[in-house]
Amino acid sequence: MRAALEVEKLSVSYGGDPAVSVPHLALPAGTLAGVVGANGAGKSTLVNGLLGWSRGPARASGVVKLDGETLNGLPTYQRVQRGLVLVPEGLAVFGTMLVEENLRSTRPHGPEAERRAFSVDHVFALFPRLAERRANRAASLSGGERQMLAIGRALRLGPKVLLLDEPSIGLAPRLVLTLLLTIRKLADAGLSVLLVEQNVRAAMEVVDHLYLLERGRIIADGPIGAMRDDPRIVEAYLGSTKA
Ligand SMILES: Nc1ncnc2c1ncn2[C@@H]1O[C@H](COP(=O)(O)OP(=O)(O)O)[C@@H](O)[C@H]1O
Ligand SMILES: [Mg+2]
Repeated sequence: MRAALEVEKLSVSYGGDPAVSVPHLALPAGTLAGVVGANGAGKSTLVNGLLGWSRGPARASGVVKLDGETLNGLPTYQRVQRGLVLVPEGLAVFGTMLVEENLRSTRPHGPEAERRAFSVDHVFALFPRLAERRANRAASLSGGERQMLAIGRALRLGPKVLLLDEPSIGLAPRLVLTLLLTIRKLADAGLSVLLVEQNVRAAMEVVDHLYLLERGRIIADGPIGAMRDDPRIVEAYLGSTKA
């Protein structure tokens, strides 16, 4: 089966040695894959690099294919229009706008994206809490609600592949699994998702496939069943439960 997202020889550097170097990564359609690793491992650099975007003057090389189509050379907004949509670290919502306005003003580009795009009602069905808060300003939302809104906005754009950069950060522990299970639901409905998480334990509850990133390199990856017993995962992230 053709990969929804495929990466070859991706290298991103901020001047010196590459911050991220990934020889190959393929995300099959309808799969939820996790990218986990410590702070500074290069997780954000990786997902931002897929979009050809960076906070600083990064240099990227390599091939990024979406549904078989090479995205190299396309600016970020055109990659988004093609269906590669990122919910970045730090919550992309318009604080002064109402929740519902945030969703309604986010529109897919072109007929294909329109076909994939979630309606506002669909987003509200996925996140009932947002429906309750529809008439509130986004700035008044809790961290968890803002994260839901940021994901809702991404779904409004009609993603083929959804990239999520640490959606659980700053969330109350009881909300983390609820949010990740909703993301799982999206994958079960056919969306391909790459989930970046520092909360390894929670990510492992929902992903199909796990990549372990260390100093910009994928040092281990595999189906989640196998990765649960991988010594590098157990020692660094699950230690206490296996003792
Ligand atoms: N704009 C930037 N300029 C220079 N170095 C950066 C920049 N952004 C990130 N880095 C460096 O790249 C590495 C990976 O960072 P990042 O991708 O943010 O990691 P993570 O998301 O896993 O915490 C770190 O060493 C970080 O200091
Ligand atoms: Mg990060």
